[in-house]
Amino acid sequence: MNAKMKIQVLELLCPHVLQTVMALLQTTICVRIFTILFFLVFLLSGKSCCIRTLNRIADSNKIPSSHHSLKTAVFALGCFWRSEAVFGCLDGVVRTTVGYAGGTKLNPEYRSLGDHAESVRVEYDPKLTSFRQLLEVFWSSHDSRQVFGQGPDVGNQYRSIIFTNGTEESRLAAVSKEREQLKSRGSAVTTQIQELGAFYPAEAEHQKFELKRNPFFLQLMGNLPEEELEMSTLAANMNGYAADLCPPKTQKQIDAKINDIIKKGWPILREK
Ligand SMILES: *[C@@H]1O[C@H](CO)[C@@H](O)[C@H](O)[C@H]1NC(C)=O
Repeated sequence: MNAKMKIQVLELLCPHVLQTVMALLQTTICVRIFTILFFLVFLLSGKSCCIRTLNRIADSNKIPSSHHSLKTAVFALGCFWRSEAVFGCLDGVVRTTVGYAGGTKLNPEYRSLGDHAESVRVEYDPKLTSFRQLLEVFWSSHDSRQVFGQGPDVGNQYRSIIFTNGTEESRLAAVSKEREQLKSRGSAVTTQIQELGAFYPAEAEHQKFELKRNPFFLQLMGNLPEEELEMSTLAANMNGYAADLCPPKTQKQIDAKINDIIKKGWPILREK
C-alpha cells in the first residue's frame, strides 16, 4: 500500500485526525511539540478519537468506589413489598432487600415466619442521606398507631419496628418516636424500637416485587438476572417508581428518562 492509498484509508476512517496531521507538518517545531503533548494527554485521559466504546456505558452499572462505606438500616412498617418500594427510590439508597427480622424463629419463610416481622434492609451512603432522614420517611410512610397490622394487612408480621445498631441510633429512634407520639395525641404509637439481631433475606420472588409486576420496566432495564436485580440501585429505584412511591422530583426524572428512551428507541435504561 503506498502513502497515497494509506492517506485515503485514513481519510475514510478518521478525517479530523488526518487534518491535524497534515496541519502539523506545516507548523514550527514549537507548535509541533505542544500539539504532540496535547495528544498524549488526550490519549492518557482515556478518550478515543473516533469510536465511542461500550465500556463507559457498562461501567455505570458498577457501584462507585465511594460506596465501600455504606451503612445499613432495617425497618418494619407493614407488608414488605411496599416497604421496599418506599425506601428504594430515595437519594443515597444504594440497595434494598426484603426479609424477616425482630423474632426468634430460626430460618423463617414467607408461609411460616413465626414471630418475625416483614422488614426491609436499606443500604445507604451516609454522605448522601442519614439514619435521621430514613426515620422521617419511616414515620411518614405508614400509620404507626394502627394496632396489630398495617392498612388492610392484619397480623403480628405487619407490626411497626425501628431496628437500631448502637446507642446513637437508639437515641435518635426514641426521640423521633416521642415527637410522633406528641403529634398523634389520643392514640398510642405502637412502634417498637429494637436492637437489630438476625435479618433473614426473604425468598427471591418477594425481592423487588413491585418492579416484577411490571414486565415493561424489567424489559427497559434489559431483563437483568435475579442476582443483579437484587444488587442493583436502579432496580431499587424502579421498584419504588413502579409502586408510585418515589419522591415527586425523582418520579419526574424517571418519567423524563423513560420518555426519552421511548422516543429514541434506545433499548436499555441505565443508572443515572
Ligand atoms: C453496626 O454498626 C457497626 C459500627 O458502625 C458496624 O460495623 C456493623 O456492621 C453494624 N451492624 C449492622 C448489622 O449493620
